This record gives sequence, C-alpha cells and structure tokens, in this order.
Amino acid sequence: MNRSVPDPIRPIRFDAGKLHLLDQRLLPAESRVNTYDDAASVAVAIREMVVRGAPAIGIAAAFGVVLACDRVRDHHAGSWRAEVDAAIERLAAARPTAVNLFWALDRMRAVLERCDTVAEACAATFAEAQAMLEADIAANRRIGAAGAALIEPGRAVLTHCNTGSLATGGFGTALGVIRASWGEGRITEVFADETRPWLQGSRLTAWELLQDGIPMQLLCEGAAASLLQAGRVGWVIVGADRIAANGDTANKIGTYGLALLARAHGVGFMVAAPLNTVDFGIVEGSAIPIEMRAESEVLGFGDQAIAAPGARAWNPAFDVTPAELIDVIVTEHGAVHRPDRAGLTALRKHSGG
Ligand code: MRU
Repeated sequence: MNRSVPDPIRPIRFDAGKLHLLDQRLLPAESRVNTYDDAASVAVAIREMVVRGAPAIGIAAAFGVVLACDRVRDHHAGSWRAEVDAAIERLAAARPTAVNLFWALDRMRAVLERCDTVAEACAATFAEAQAMLEADIAANRRIGAAGAALIEPGRAVLTHCNTGSLATGGFGTALGVIRASWGEGRITEVFADETRPWLQGSRLTAWELLQDGIPMQLLCEGAAASLLQAGRVGWVIVGADRIAANGDTANKIGTYGLALLARAHGVGFMVAAPLNTVDFGIVEGSAIPIEMRAESEVLGFGDQAIAAPGARAWNPAFDVTPAELIDVIVTEHGAVHRPDRAGLTALRKHSGG
C-alpha cells in the first residue's frame, strides 16, 4: 500500500531578512505567524514556546544568529564579532535540555570563525542556517523510512508530546516514523498522549495528524497503562531532546513512564531522532540538564487557574529514560538496537562523524 502523506506544515521560514515562526502557543485555535528581526526576541520566542521541539529550536536559533549578523552589519559601533558572540550566548541560554540548540550554535560559531568581515558573516550564516533547515527535513524522511521498516503491519502506535513538522524543520522524527508507517499501510491508527502541561499532544500532534488524514485518538497520560494492557499498541514511538553517549534519552516528561509500561507489557519502545541529538560529551543520562519550568504551567492553563489556591507544583519539562528500556534508537544514519555506547559510537563512525 502507498498512501500519500501531504505534510504541509512548515513552522520556520526565513524571508526578506526576517524570521517567521508559526506561534505554537496559539495552535490549533489560531495559525498566527510572528516575525522577528533580532536575536534577542528569537531567544525569548524559544523560551516562551513560540517555537519548540529540539530540532526546531536549533534551527530557529541558527536563524537568530543570521539576524544578529544582519543587525550588526547595519548598526554596529564596536567589534562585530563580540556583538554576535553576545547574541549567541543569549540564544544558548534560552532552554537547557535540547542539545540541538547547542549543536546548531556551535555550527554557527564554526562558520563565523571562517569569516573576515560582517558582510561575509551575513551571507555565510544564512547559507548555513538554510542548509540546516533543509538537511533536517531530509534527515527526518530517512528516519521515517528506517523506523517504518521496523513496524510489523496491523497494530496501532502510541506517541507522546509533539515530534512532528512543528517540532522540526518539517516531517518530524517520531511523527515522521508514524507518517511513513501510515503511508506504507503498516499502522491502523495513532494514540497520542495529551501531554500535560502544554498539551503538545492534543493541540499540536492531533492537529498535524488530522491534516494528513491519519486516524488518531487522544488519551490522558494516565490512560496509557490501560491502553497497553489491552494489547492494542505494537510500538510506543517517541522523539528525544538529548541522548547521552550510552543511549539514555531525555525527552518530554512522561516518556520514562511510557518506557516502563512498554517493557512491562512486551510492547516495543522506539526513540526516533537525528544523530545531532546524541551528545557524545555526556556519558550517561544523569548528567543531562533537565529544564524546570514555572509552577504556573501546572497550576493553570493559559490565564485560567485550575489548581486549588495555594497549591505548589513540581514541573520538570523532561525526564530521562534509561537505555536498557529502549528497544531501538532510529537515526537518519540507521538504527541502533538495544542501544549502548558501543552501538552509538559505531553509528557515528559509520556516518562519517
Ligand atoms: O518542551 P517541548 O515541547 O520543546 O518538548 C519537545 C519534546 O520533548 C519532543 O519530544 C522532542 O523535542 C523531540 S521533537 C522532534
């Protein structure tokens, strides 16, 4: 079977010297595109979740560096390099867990080192950021095909958070595997956790899947155990914000619980991510910095208070799933089954990295 999967959503666009970001805080009620012409406001957009998802954060930050170069070219008084470096530092401080942010900024720093003038820097950083965006979409298509090949036809899958076009340059990582699997007729439907507190599942993943005509049902995270117990799901498929060298994986809070449930019920657990999500500088998951976000995100939704007045909230944005609970990590360079340091290192060598 070969179904077409339209995948029309592109959250990041750079045009006429400005960065355009689809405001993900407002979806699905409103599709508003915000326009940015300086790096500082891109850093705020990342922190405040206008753009989110590990690869998308990295790409947006890369374009933030382009904006910094453009601005310095037009207005600078002192050293252009020092001003661009300060903008990079500000972008790096936006969110701590997704390694793609730091990977993208390191690539931009390497480009800047090769430039002698600010005019050169403007052209070279733009070319690099645009190449990063296009390479991300191409990588996601390869991840999608490689992940789909592992899925035996005839069952549903469960996913968490949003790992789709919105979270990347386009197509998605875990959602890319799901798109490819649906295109090949391998899955019957998708179950998506609503993903408290930002509701990336019910607002964003549902929005993407429905536009592609992929049948889906939402569930509260607390319903996942019953769903897996009922035997309706063949694979749990998630993305990643940072993978340590040994395969331990940081992803949206709640992922670890799903991995435990999957193992308890004999369901496959797949992490889909580009190789730039693997941080070979971090030996194991306990060293991954986990972002703590405001209590208000749990105590209310938007402007509306939900919790009893005076209640406190614990709000880590991510958790770490130990590698031994992961059946396979799928990247654009291939899959590592029962991931560990040796498997990931071999994959990196094979990729030429
Ligand atoms: O807080 P968010 O929405 O940025 O978290 C996103 C996730 O946890 C995704 O699962 C992860 O970034 C992978 S996206 C391809």
